[in-house]
Formats: sequence, structure tokens, C-alpha cells
Amino acid sequence: MDKMRIIGGQPLKGTVQVSGSKNAALPILISALLTEEVCDISHVPVLQDIKTVLKLLNHLGVQTDSKNGKVQLSAKNVMSFEAPYDLVRTMRASVLVLGPLLARFGQAKVSLPGGCAIGARPIGFHLTGLEKLGAEIKLENGYVVATCKKLRGGRVTFEFPSVGATEHLMMTAVLAEGETVLENCAKEPEIVDLAKMLRSMGAEIEGDGTETIAISGKPSLHGTHYHVMGDRIEAGTFLAAGFITGGAVTVEGISPEFLEAVLSKYEEAGAQIERKENAVKLGVIERARGTDVITQPFPGFPTDMQAQFMAVMCLADGASAITETIFENRFMHVPELIRLGADITIRGKSALVRGKKTLIGAPLMATDLRASASLILGGLAAQGETWVNRIYHLDRGYEKMEEKLKLLGAKIERVSW
Ligand code: EPZ
Repeated sequence: MDKMRIIGGQPLKGTVQVSGSKNAALPILISALLTEEVCDISHVPVLQDIKTVLKLLNHLGVQTDSKNGKVQLSAKNVMSFEAPYDLVRTMRASVLVLGPLLARFGQAKVSLPGGCAIGARPIGFHLTGLEKLGAEIKLENGYVVATCKKLRGGRVTFEFPSVGATEHLMMTAVLAEGETVLENCAKEPEIVDLAKMLRSMGAEIEGDGTETIAISGKPSLHGTHYHVMGDRIEAGTFLAAGFITGGAVTVEGISPEFLEAVLSKYEEAGAQIERKENAVKLGVIERARGTDVITQPFPGFPTDMQAQFMAVMCLADGASAITETIFENRFMHVPELIRLGADITIRGKSALVRGKKTLIGAPLMATDLRASASLILGGLAAQGETWVNRIYHLDRGYEKMEEKLKLLGAKIERVSW
């Protein structure tokens, strides 16, 4: 198991190119199931979660060829409609194969994903929506068994603006007969990126990025070439690295509008932010100020940046109330940050962070993807040596993180154990 060794205290300076967005690439790759023609997807990050979803697609019979961030997929010869437990449990976005398999082949058997470190992660909104399009769904031995004669368009109103459920219904309704209207949709930029890719395959979708999406189903879709958007959470994480170390970091390959809630919170906390066409620069002229945050669906402050922002606030002047409203167990970075000397108290959905002048390096344990990033950030700012264990969590969502941080002047190395 790899660990990360960090010697903290270096202000990070320089420019980082963000990789393709993990959370856009996953549904985009799965959407290749919707056509028998070839899909060429570029700017795909080289990550464990991507490898897992490609393994699942291969298991279904999709031919894939990956090289230097380009993936070619052909779902001409799909011969299995079953997504097994051992693949789905390691990467829960795998459940998104259910709708496309139903839409194209009328049948699918997909393992329930089970929970993960940050929460129960149910998929009831997905299944209710698919039933509204005519799917017959049964739960058997931990699997979702779905059949349909022909999916028909319908009206689906989500109980909560779920990212995955919005994506799932979009990726299914594009082949359902007639009109579908999705209401109370999630508006994340990754959903717009997926809609753009589906339109490039001939799908008719309007309203993506708003709370109401209208889809006119087509009998079939064709192949496409598509370039995945930049990863806005990776971008926000590297800006946090510049902020927590008192440096100056520019992230390139991301539109500031996709991170506006985070950028304005960094500014409220005292950072200097320069917004460019396809880049953002963060500079630090004074110690961060304590700043409150409440995570919300887009365009609110993203839950995927909560742990990273908390790390920055551990060294702020003053207190910060950080409230997590999206997931029920997303504070597992807190006890580890406390091992660095942070002063954090959890009260229900909120964590009260009282800023300290310094953090002291210590051995830490990563528990989930964004918590791992938060611990790396803490180690970059702490005095002395920090070890972060179980960084396979980090490798799920950050491509070559230590190499990019080294380019910014960080003293960090991956140690294989
Ligand atoms: C996506 O997860 C992202 N993952 C998550 O990123 C992100 O944190 C989340 O959206 C919120 O932005 C991918 O895109 C692969 P949701 P998803 O459905 O789709 C509840 C990361 O770090 N819910 O919007 O699973 C759910 O339990 C990951 O990159 C139901 O109750 O998130 C949660 O409390 C972590 N029933 C809330 O809704 C359902 O059927 C939001 O979940 C579906 C969701």
C-alpha cells in the first residue's frame, strides 16, 4: 500500500494543468453503451475509478482501447447485461450502466452499489425515475433486475437534485420513445458536459444546467468524438494548496464559472483571486480569515470541496463553521486533521474550526477521496514530516497529484510499502 511523505512549510508557486473531470468522464464513458458505433473520448483522466468503469464495460462486451488519456469504445458486441457486485461496490457510479442497457437491450442486472465511507448512497431516485419510463424493476439478492419492452418518455420529478439520478435518467431517456421531462434536476457542470456529449451522438436534450431538462427520444444514436471538461474539484484542490501554504498557484484548463462558489469563499477568506478565460490564479497576501461554509448542490459550495476548505481554515485567523448538507458522514478527515494539531469540534452537520497559527506534521490515515486531499493539504502546511497512509483513496480521483505538487515546489514523495 502506497503512502505519501510530505515535508511541510513550502509556499507553493506556479501553474498546474488540470486533468479531465473524473465526474464528467464516468457517465460519458458509460454513454458509449447507447450506440453500436465507435466513440472516441479524449481528456480522460488516468485514475483508478476510470480503470474500474472500463473494466466493467469490458465485462459487458464493450471493446475499449485507452492510450494517453484517449479512450476509444465500441459497444457493437455487448453480450452481457450484468454488472457484478465486485465491480459495482468499488465504484458506485457503475450503476449508471443500468439505464443504457435497458434502453438498448431491454434488460439489465446491476448490483446495488452498497454504501461507502461518506454515506449510505442509496439509488432510489434512479430506480423510481426508470420505472416512470416503463422499466420493470425487482430487487433480488442484492441486485437490481430490470426489464422493459420499450422505454417510453415520461415526467420525472426528483425528490432531491441528485447528480447521479439526473445523469442516469438523461442517459436513458435519450433512447426512450417520445418526450421526457426531468424536474428538480441537479445543475452541476458535469451534467452539462454529459448532455453535450449525448447531443454530439444525435440526442435531443434541452435545459441541461437548469432544474428542468427536456429530452426527445431517438430510435438510435451514432458514434462521436468528445473532449471531457477539466476537473473543477481538482482545480479547487490545487488552489487550496496555494492558499494553505501562503503561495501563488494558477490552475489552467478550467472555467472560473464552474467554481464560482469556491472562489468567492476563498476571496471572503482573504485570498486574491484572478479569473481568466480558462484559468484561475490564487495569491495570498495575508493569513486566511475564518470563514463559514454550507455545502449545497450547484451552484452552491460543492460538497467535494468541503474537506479541502476545512484544511485551509485550520490555519485561519478566527473561527469557521463548516456545514455538510449533502452527505451524512463526510467529516472523517476531522480526527486526522486534529492529529496535526487542528482545533475542530463537530456538532451534528457542522464542524466548528478554530484557526491555529501552526500545524505539526504527524502520521495520518486517509479514509475517502476528498478526505485524502484534505490531509495532503494539511501536511503541505504543517511543520515537519507528515505521512498519509492508504492513499489508494487519493488515486481514485487525482491524477499524478504528487508530481503536480512537486512542480509547485512541494516536498512530497510517494513511498511504496
Ligand atoms: C456525485 O455523486 C459525485 N460522484 C460525488 O462526487 C458528489 O459528491 C455528488 O455527486 C454530489 O455533488 C460522481 O459524479 C461519480 P447525489 P452522486 O446523487 O451522484 C442522496 C467525489 O468525491 N441520494 O447528488 O452519488 C445521496 O445519498 C464524489 O468525486 C439519495 O438519497 O451524488 C446524497 O446524500 C463523492 N437517493 C445526496 O442524495 C438517490 O437515489 C446527493 O447525492 C440518489 C442520491
